[in-house]
Amino acid sequence: MIVDLLKKRCSIRKFKQMTIPQDTIDYIIEAGRLSPSGGNEQPWVFGIVNDNELINKIAIAAYNQKWISSAPLVIVLCTTIVEDERGARNIQVSRFPKFKNEILNMSKQLYSKLNSEEHQSKIPGTNMVLAALEHGIYSTWVSYFNVNEVAGLLNLPPLYIPSEILVLGYPEGEIKPKIKKKKEEIIFINSYKKDDPSDYI
Ligand SMILES: Cc1cc2nc3c(=O)[nH]c(=O)nc-3n(C[C@H](O)[C@H](O)[C@H](O)COP(=O)(O)O)c2cc1C
Repeated sequence: MIVDLLKKRCSIRKFKQMTIPQDTIDYIIEAGRLSPSGGNEQPWVFGIVNDNELINKIAIAAYNQKWISSAPLVIVLCTTIVEDERGARNIQVSRFPKFKNEILNMSKQLYSKLNSEEHQSKIPGTNMVLAALEHGIYSTWVSYFNVNEVAGLLNLPPLYIPSEILVLGYPEGEIKPKIKKKKEEIIFINSYKKDDPSDYI
């Protein structure tokens, strides 16, 4: 049951020196492969990194998050940058009309990196985290890293950027899921009650 799995989930930063079997890695990747994406574009490739030396270098590129080095597996979720970003810009203008000028004037180079394609890899990543957990494998998301350096380590072609990193393994030590906000704090029914209209974007 998905909610039961989610109740067990927590970020783990210390791993047993135990290799993850290939069929389990395949299962995790399958969960990512089947993910939804806008227009079914599937704008991603997944880098499966099981080489200790390379994992170590990724840890350094993640601003020296040394704990990453203890993991037997790292999955680098990469997104493809859309070469012609005008369609994506127009979608963002429809979503945020107040920022039309800023969106349209941003340099092509910066826009293509920041555009929403990048964030789509959160969906396959989330599915992978759950599939891994079914096999007793815990993980931690990492987005604090130098994108250029990681791209270089993986020899990624220019139109691919690493958008998120998943660090996975069998947990060592205590597993303690964090306390999450109560339902009452995070939902509203039909309409959010707010007095100040300036709060709206
Ligand atoms: C998108 C994203 C990026 C994250 N980046 C990092 C990171 O760079 N380093 C790290 O140690 N934890 C990172 N985390 C883990 C969060 O700190 C963690 O999810 C949060 O504290 C909640 O704890 P929980 O995952 O145990 O519920 C990241 C989490 C998310 C969702």
